[in-house]
Amino acid sequence: MGLMNKITGLYPGSFDPITNGHIDIILRASKVVDILIIGVAENEKKKHLFSLKERKNLIEGQLNKNKSRIKNVKVVMFDGLLMSFAEKVNANLIIRGLRAVSDFDYEFQMTGMNARLNSTIETVFLMASERHQFISSRFVKEICMLDGDVSSFVPEEVHAKLSNKFNIK
Ligand code: PNS
Repeated sequence: MGLMNKITGLYPGSFDPITNGHIDIILRASKVVDILIIGVAENEKKKHLFSLKERKNLIEGQLNKNKSRIKNVKVVMFDGLLMSFAEKVNANLIIRGLRAVSDFDYEFQMTGMNARLNSTIETVFLMASERHQFISSRFVKEICMLDGDVSSFVPEEVHAKLSNKFNIK
């Protein structure tokens, strides 16, 4: 593929907070596209634990830590429609991580609707690696809130911020 045809991938999500599963997808996605944009979604309807800025900072901290392995990634916050944002940043494709069967219905609907909004932007799925099959931000928060050990699900820095939020020593 010539230099003129750079592929820009957009990996959107809530990232509340970023987990080892997200990082795995970011590392792998960055290898299959020329430029990877991580889109951190503001969703007024969702009650987030971390603010948009905090979620972005946590992701950037992890990119910094892995900077020898990833060079073509940037983090951008967005609100409103994903497909409008994808058009704005000239993304050629949307990347989503896929875990268990339970993710499928939701992802299937979202991909179908998004394709109707803009059929020129494809959604592709990276299957979560075995180690990360079960990690979800939602359960990470719940486990941490109940003082369980989340150290194998999230990076150290995220663990520290989570413990802070829940006032856990
Ligand atoms: O990490 P998540 O919470 O599964 O990410 C969901 C996200 C942010 C990708 C999705 O909610 C989204 O695209 N939101 C933007 C609003 C939008 O475009 N909605 C229509 C989807 S068909």
